[in-house]
Amino acid sequence: MELDAALGLIARVPDFPEPGVLFRDLSPLFAHGDGFRTVADALAATVEPDVDLLAAVEARGFVLAAAVGYARGLGVVLVRKPGKLPSVAGRVDYALEYGTASLELPENVVPRDANVAVVDDVLATGGTVNAACQLLEKAGAVVSGVSVVLELAALSGRTVLDGRRVHSLQVV
Ligand code: PRP
Ligand code: HPA
Repeated sequence: MELDAALGLIARVPDFPEPGVLFRDLSPLFAHGDGFRTVADALAATVEPDVDLLAAVEARGFVLAAAVGYARGLGVVLVRKPGKLPSVAGRVDYALEYGTASLELPENVVPRDANVAVVDDVLATGGTVNAACQLLEKAGAVVSGVSVVLELAALSGRTVLDGRRVHSLQVV
């Protein structure tokens, strides 16, 4: 399947989760075998050759990072919503397009000085990916890049990422 056709499987849902938000729903893409493989392969190709480890943001980032990690022979550190991890290296609270949230990094999983690529589905305000980058950097890792399927340009997420390298398969 062509990448454009695969990306065309992403649904646009008006007024979710709040009035005025046009929500991009990757569920139909994740459920389509060819489409998912096409997107996972394209995302895998954006990961720099010197990357040691992927970091995935709960929950949709987990699906993508697992496929990218398999394709590239890389492991995945799961950056989690609070209260899920028995032992935490750090926590960051951040603002979302709708509401606030927190992320935690598991302890003793990310080696100091590791080159890490962050994988997620959507870059919107950038709060989520920025929080993941901050957690990794506080743990002594280097964020070599951020790879997302979809970047929502109107929300300027790229600007909060402070010059970190961002790879988006589609900017809308
Ligand atoms: C969504 C999405 C990104 C984030 C993007 O996750 O998967 O992680 O929001 O928004 P931002 O750039 O404004 O931070 P959500 O918190 O809805 O979690 P989910 O993957 O568990 O549904
Ligand atoms: N889709 C998926 N995740 C999101 C979105 C969206 O439109 N906005 C913020 N996170």
